[in-house]
Amino acid sequence: MPFRDLPDSSVIARAPGKINLVLRVGPRRADGFHDLLTCFQAVNIWESVALSPADEFSIALTGDVNLGEIPLDANNLAMKAVAAVAQATGRTDAVAIRIDKKVPVGGGMGGGSADAAATLIAINELWHAGLSQAELLDIAAELGSDVPFLLEGGTAIGRGRGEVLEPVKSLPLHWVIVPSMEHLATPGVYGRLDELRADVDVVLPPSLPEAFIDALYQGDAEALAPHLINDMAQAAIDLDPGLAETLELGLEASALAVMVSGSGPTCAMLARDQKHAADIQNFCSSAGRHAVVTSSPARGAHLVSS
Ligand code: C5P
Repeated sequence: MPFRDLPDSSVIARAPGKINLVLRVGPRRADGFHDLLTCFQAVNIWESVALSPADEFSIALTGDVNLGEIPLDANNLAMKAVAAVAQATGRTDAVAIRIDKKVPVGGGMGGGSADAAATLIAINELWHAGLSQAELLDIAAELGSDVPFLLEGGTAIGRGRGEVLEPVKSLPLHWVIVPSMEHLATPGVYGRLDELRADVDVVLPPSLPEAFIDALYQGDAEALAPHLINDMAQAAIDLDPGLAETLELGLEASALAVMVSGSGPTCAMLARDQKHAADIQNFCSSAGRHAVVTSSPARGAHLVSS
């Protein structure tokens, strides 16, 4: 368990990181967001959150990822999640929030959103607030476009700005995740994408290819590989040119496909099976890169016992 010396009355929850197997981005909307057609998949890399009753609000972070740029005030997504549930329930009690981070920060894998999702589950329990999953999903959508998916987990087609979800079935897949030294802020990557497409009439495809859905259903990594696509990849590479090298490294390592995860700059390399993933990880490590083996899909945010 990542937390030490927690008061007995504490509640712990965890939520997974995500990758987008397909990320198609429509034109910029009037509200500044972009309509998406995406396929989210939760991966077995976990953010853990512990909430304890306290005299005043606080946030503390631990973890084996670079924690540098995370706000420790009301701007933190976990704090925002507590504030949103406080508003929905009329509760005002202070809580101490501890977050143990494993998902790369600013990496396009939804780490901050996972903190929000885990916090929603934990605060609902700590306060015996009795909010239903549907009510939590509504609050989640206000907190961020990826938060509803990280509450639900598994695999889902995402529409709207990512908050409209349709679950799909997927057998397990194996991945190597390679973080970047850089952090990319999501709005900046969308902004760069808008610049790149300024003269293009962007049309969002209406649905995902049937062959893609079939490959997921069968857990057929070889059949899935050619369908992985991320419209944000070039924008992310423009802002973090080192990404091109990571993508190249994945292909040299014989990954079936290599993609930028979400708005980047973390890269996800698809493996045939667990052994192949270990081989790809070794190859990347030998090249001096930090690389993590993982699998998907993972379940959504849930309580864990301390
Ligand atoms: O919803 P979230 O807070 O994660 O979004 C962060 C930023 O990313 C938004 O303010 C917006 O600039 C951009 N975004 C977007 N279209 C989406 C999701 C996010 O333009 N579908």
